[in-house]
Amino acid sequence: MSEPVLLATGLHKSFKQGSERIEVLRGLSLEVRRGERCAIVGRSGSGKSTLLHILAGLDDLDAGQVQLCGAAISAASVGERARMRNRHVGFVYQLHHLLPEFSALENVQMPLRLGGASRRQAEAQAAVLLEAVGLKNRMNHRPSALSGGERQRVAVARALVGHPDVLLADEPTGNLDRDNARQVFDLMRALSEDFGVALVVVTHDEEATDGMDRALLLDGGALDALA
Ligand SMILES: Nc1ncnc2c1ncn2[C@@H]1O[C@H](COP(=O)(O)OP(=O)(O)O)[C@@H](O)[C@H]1O
Ligand SMILES: [Mg+2]
Repeated sequence: MSEPVLLATGLHKSFKQGSERIEVLRGLSLEVRRGERCAIVGRSGSGKSTLLHILAGLDDLDAGQVQLCGAAISAASVGERARMRNRHVGFVYQLHHLLPEFSALENVQMPLRLGGASRRQAEAQAAVLLEAVGLKNRMNHRPSALSGGERQRVAVARALVGHPDVLLADEPTGNLDRDNARQVFDLMRALSEDFGVALVVVTHDEEATDGMDRALLLDGGALDALA
């Protein structure tokens, strides 16, 4: 069996809210294999975003460990985490987080440029990804000239342009209507397969479990198989 791309064990995370401490993750564990597609469903406030941020090394843990492609991202320095993330992880947010003053092509190039690629190389690769998400004819549009579904497809292209090992998506269709939501989900699943990239989608929409290898429920700070 191939090594897991993500291996999270015994994750604990709490936040202080006023005088109270809220335990969001309570000993959560998760293993995601290369190319595996996994949906995590949970109600609002169940800790979905917290979990994804921790998996990506964007937030600290109280206890537990996250291994990304065999290396402990949870124990690495902030700079090392950023390098590991740039190399191994693509992230899609509920709001596209595209830079408004840049075109789709420039937005998609950004992770490659930050990773040190030449402009020429980054542009060529970004164009391939935009074509893969069906936006070949929208490359020079700024986000304001794109529809909500198109913006999310640009965000998916940006997340995949560096050929990450895992794509993490935090309610990626939360702001889309049903048809556009389905299109974005279908696209993420198809590209996950084409690129052999693992996919972890967190959502409150149970429809997102269609066509995934695994569906899990986040409740009470831990994961269970979704009934
Ligand atoms: N930075 C923070 N400071 C304090 N509380 C937080 C913080 N981030 C999240 N929380 C709390 O943790 C819980 C889980 O939040 P979150 O992970 O955003 O849930 P979800 O994404 O499932 O809606 C909520 O009760 C939220 O208020
Ligand atoms: Mg959230």
